[in-house]
Amino acid sequence: MRVTMIGTGYVGLVSGACFADFGHTVTCVDKDEGKIARLLKGEIPIFEPGLDELVKDNVEQGRLFFTTDPTAAIRDADAVFIAVGTPSRRGDGHADLSYVYAAAEEIAGLMNGYTVVVTKSTVPVGTGDEVEAIIKKVRPDADFAVVSNPEFLREGAAIGDFKRPDRVVVGTNDERAREVMRQLYRPLSLNETPMVFTERRTSELIKYAGNGFLAMKITFINEIADLCEAVGANVQEVAKGIGLDNRIGRKFLNAGPGYGGSCFPKDTLALMKTARDANAPIELIEATVRVNSARKQKMAQKIIEALGGSVAGKTVAVLGLTFKPNTDDMRDAPALDIVPTLQAEGAKVRAFDPEGMNEAKHMLKDVQFATGPYDCVQNADAVVIITEWDQFRALDLDRIKDTLKTPVLVDLRNIYRPDEMRAKGFTYVSVGRP
Ligand code: UGA
Repeated sequence: MRVTMIGTGYVGLVSGACFADFGHTVTCVDKDEGKIARLLKGEIPIFEPGLDELVKDNVEQGRLFFTTDPTAAIRDADAVFIAVGTPSRRGDGHADLSYVYAAAEEIAGLMNGYTVVVTKSTVPVGTGDEVEAIIKKVRPDADFAVVSNPEFLREGAAIGDFKRPDRVVVGTNDERAREVMRQLYRPLSLNETPMVFTERRTSELIKYAGNGFLAMKITFINEIADLCEAVGANVQEVAKGIGLDNRIGRKFLNAGPGYGGSCFPKDTLALMKTARDANAPIELIEATVRVNSARKQKMAQKIIEALGGSVAGKTVAVLGLTFKPNTDDMRDAPALDIVPTLQAEGAKVRAFDPEGMNEAKHMLKDVQFATGPYDCVQNADAVVIITEWDQFRALDLDRIKDTLKTPVLVDLRNIYRPDEMRAKGFTYVSVGRP
């Protein structure tokens, strides 16, 4: 099949490379000339494990192309995917759909013969109807279908998520379009991946309901962690105890500093807004958003308390800045709230992150960036683990303890064991564990 991806951001690039790897001929289109020039040279603008090799292989095999000119790519395509950004509109939490609509107009002007237009970007319910209306207006004669096909890719694990998904959701009533989508995802039938065919609006809502539920699940365990601290229980064991119930499931029950990233914060806000606009507010999502946003301050307070109630004049070493490991993405990372709060209380912050420091330098002021974990903790009054990168999981703790001024370790991801840490002589504070 011939596939065109509009947008070479995270979703477009991963999906384009994976479809090419399935054997389809894929052209990725982006207006950003610099980005396309870099991609043509084999440089990948984002950090995603395995993506560079996947892109390189498929370019070499002649299945993956990059261009700024959409003309031929759209004219010849069986399916055109819209994978452009849908940032939160300033102020009101609504998703900004201007890039999606601009892509729809562009596609309408160029498409030729039956074309399936697929929205991969996360879009509010009803966006597919609007895309269809835009195309019809520009080209009343066009032969096409608009399909919703939400993505469920986690940063850092996106290629695996694309190639071995739990399910593929396809929202359309058009039988020809369903057949094109079946062909596109055919390689997944080997693993018997369920394909969920549904109405377009339902498919659009599945994406938001999925992310909303996961954000709520994390927030639930975070509140249980706070309760564990108050009553002397262990949140990891509670998570295991409830997670072994198949109806609950063990995943996404790791207590921590609150969810961040480019998806959960934006999508929960958009879901909240859609629900309010439809006069069907979802109070659980509203509470999730509120609790998660307050949590980051709570974490800063936890650090201050671990340092005896004041960080004024003290040096805090921060390990991990990105919103989670295996990404360089700093969007809505808990560190962006925690670090400035510590600084406002008078702390000096030194930080290290394996991939996020370039981004972090633009987003955090007055932070001293270190070259590695041991350099970071040098003579600090405390070390705080904010992101659970693998390289922080097996630190030489004796060396850390000798290097710190005072042996205080605040572990916001529960990667170390409290008994071991205490035996080593640390003042060890974690989340929801006695
Ligand atoms: C999320 C979803 O997991 C994907 O399925 C979805 O496709 C994607 O959003 C999207 O909408 O595009 P992502 O934002 O990459 O993926 O990251 P997650 O792995 O879901 O983590 C999100 C946040 O939750 C991180 O800050 C992470 O640290 C936190 N988290 C996750 C926890 O605090 N505890 C957990 O148990 C799991």
